Amino acid sequence: MEPILSFEQMWRDLAPVGRSAESGGYFRQPYAAAETELRAWFDEVCRSRGLEVESDELGNIVGWWRPEGVDGPGVLTGSHLDSVLDGGAYDGPLGVVSALAAIDVLRERGFVPARPVGVSVFAEEEGSRFGLACLGSRLAAGAMSWEKARELRDRDGVFLPDALVASGLEPTDADKAWDLRGRVECFVELHVEQGRDLVDRAAAVGVASEIWPHGRYRFDFTGEANHAGTTRMEDRHDPMLTYAMTALAANKQARLAGERATFGRVDVAPNGTNAVPSRVTAWLDARCATDGGLASLVAAIEKQATERADRDGTSLSMTAESVSGAVAFDAGLAGRIAADHEGGDWPIIPTMAGHDAGILSAAGIPTAMLFVRNPTGVSHSPAEHAEMADCLVGVGALADTLERLAG
Ligand code: GLV
Ligand code: MN
Ligand code: MN
Repeated sequence: MEPILSFEQMWRDLAPVGRSAESGGYFRQPYAAAETELRAWFDEVCRSRGLEVESDELGNIVGWWRPEGVDGPGVLTGSHLDSVLDGGAYDGPLGVVSALAAIDVLRERGFVPARPVGVSVFAEEEGSRFGLACLGSRLAAGAMSWEKARELRDRDGVFLPDALVASGLEPTDADKAWDLRGRVECFVELHVEQGRDLVDRAAAVGVASEIWPHGRYRFDFTGEANHAGTTRMEDRHDPMLTYAMTALAANKQARLAGERATFGRVDVAPNGTNAVPSRVTAWLDARCATDGGLASLVAAIEKQATERADRDGTSLSMTAESVSGAVAFDAGLAGRIAADHEGGDWPIIPTMAGHDAGILSAAGIPTAMLFVRNPTGVSHSPAEHAEMADCLVGVGALADTLERLAG
């Protein structure tokens, strides 16, 4: 057997994969070269630990620790290896590497699980390529059908099945996602914190209480292409203007209500400096504390956009591309994880970020999340960070949690 790599060594091995020399951020889009390399790396480190590797044709992978005679539904932990465009090193990989390291800790303690323990990697968690967050876990949890997934296309028009084939996977017409229903007793995802709650509370680790409802909405603004010099300002039907006013309105609506609204992606046609555009497509990411609040926020933004389109002589059509409802994690489980360690309770905090843990929880699987402090509070950016000492506290907290759940 290969020597077991420490957390620090695994972290160092992953650091160059998909990193931009220019920004220092990561480009680990699903099924592209860097992410494919990471999945191969995961397969290898699982095998070197004697874990049984099971993968599906979508790129979901799980490495099972199943000692002789131990069978039945297991305790799953893990996260994802893909990143947003120019993302940080920690969002996703921290949970995967910590899960492997936690198994090493448990083995060093001489712990033998009474049920299987799996380390999972879910594909396309960020939705950075096919637009739908948590694609792999949605399919594995039965929250989405393969018939629907196979129609997804990336920005270059590549269909999901073709991207899978290009990365060496072999999807067929059948639903080939690894089906975790009935096979997973509970799920624990460790993740870098994506805000500053733990910094403010001076805690290395926290536990999640809930995930805010959130969704992605495509706004198609259509106008009339025309000459940037010869077209009088009052004669224009400029969809860029309608979009710009909508972005301002969304920001104001969300700020007034203590919610979140972001236009982070825009596509302009024909995208020429000296032409009034004919079309602007922009994607709204909206998040609120309640499902009702999310619906009201999006309706208010759409109303303002429509009114503005009437004034600009443009038109708007809005499509909800994905909506994820409120997730309340198993409160008993969160409380036990938060309380059961030396030095006082870990804080229990909500998150406004989406996670595979939310999909599994919504599928009825008791689920918990551990967060590791992020001193910058920044995420989905190269500035995302966690100190090594805090990462190791996280590994210990995850090992304790798995020992309790799998014992
Ligand atoms: C995933 O990180 C999301 O919240 O969009
Ligand atoms: Mn993540
Ligand atoms: Mn993320």
